[in-house]
Amino acid sequence: MSDISHLTPLLAIETSCDDTACAILDAHGALLGESVLSQEDHAALGGVVPELAARAHLKALPELVELTLQRAGLELEDIALFAATTGPGLIGGLIVGSSYAKGLAMACGKPFMGINHIEGHILTPRLPAVLRPDETAPAFPYLALLVSGGHCQCITVEDTGQYRRLGGTIDDSAGEAFDKVAKMLGLGWPGGPALEKLAREGDPQAYSLPRPLKGRPGCDFSFSGLKTAVARHIEPYGREALPRQVAADLAASFQQAVTDVMADRILNALALAPQVTSLVVAGGVAANSVLRQRLEEIASQHGITFLAPPLRLCTDNAAMIGWAALERLKQGEVPDDITLAPRPRWPLSERQPYRPQATQETSSTGHSSLMEPSV
Ligand code: KG4
Ligand code: ZN
Repeated sequence: MSDISHLTPLLAIETSCDDTACAILDAHGALLGESVLSQEDHAALGGVVPELAARAHLKALPELVELTLQRAGLELEDIALFAATTGPGLIGGLIVGSSYAKGLAMACGKPFMGINHIEGHILTPRLPAVLRPDETAPAFPYLALLVSGGHCQCITVEDTGQYRRLGGTIDDSAGEAFDKVAKMLGLGWPGGPALEKLAREGDPQAYSLPRPLKGRPGCDFSFSGLKTAVARHIEPYGREALPRQVAADLAASFQQAVTDVMADRILNALALAPQVTSLVVAGGVAANSVLRQRLEEIASQHGITFLAPPLRLCTDNAAMIGWAALERLKQGEVPDDITLAPRPRWPLSERQPYRPQATQETSSTGHSSLMEPSV
């Protein structure tokens, strides 16, 4: 474990989608200050508009950083390292957030570090703020199911920087499927919470909906066929408003189908990675209580721990970005070169796990060897 006291407190920025977030962490991962601004404008437009999101991040960041420093009782000069999400995500937001962090780093003469958003999500259960006083961080390896509006992946976390992606969606993410079906049912955006609420009034067996990929080997997901099946049941009503009971039954049946599919995929994942000690769920869809309950049952049947970070740390936030930076620094990784470019698509496997300290030296050709490592 490297001594990282000279690299902390660190300030992290997250802007990969529609949440502008900033957090300050100390060397132990304690959250000294935190702020999140969820952009509201997208609701009226029925989804995240990338250009609007990027502009809103730019507008929000100066005040948000200032507020987070105030909450931590620190001045900008006290910050020893600036971290930001550099992918995957919407490129406009990634450019705004990472450029802002780089600008602060340059102005303060401090290092910068780019962090993978997915890595942030899947390392969150190890963040001290997530754990109750009587709990310990999940031991490696653990299985992480990341289900949000932007992601749907199943990953084994073998160590910091060592991940194995067991599967992911081949079309929509789980959150997208919830949002699209909610829209068909006449609910607002984001649709997941409203759909779950309506489903409480419905019968999950009322409609026989497909369970895409259920029973097939592997851990991939597919939701587009399920979404189309729901649309077919709505079609006969044409322009008429759906009777509330029909909408509630469809919501409950859809939620059940998604849960069944997820359960099937997780059972396959556990068969592929029998050594895992915990099952961790993250992302906005992890708020769904029917899904949570099923995953909890599966974990208990397999004698492993079930962990779901509190919702504010399950959804997009900057604490997870700061924590991933800390975990990497503790393993001896060095900060990034300021030229590190954001990547809208950035599979976890495409980062060298760790760059040994020795590579920090300027190479014989005169170029810094701290550039984004080649894939
Ligand atoms: O992680 P998140 O806040 O943002 C990203 O997409 O990164 O996730 C938002 C997604 C939305 O698609 C939303 O509909 C879904 O999470 N969601 C839910 C529930 N709460 C939020 N889906 C199902 N049930 C819920 N209770
Ligand atoms: Zn996310």
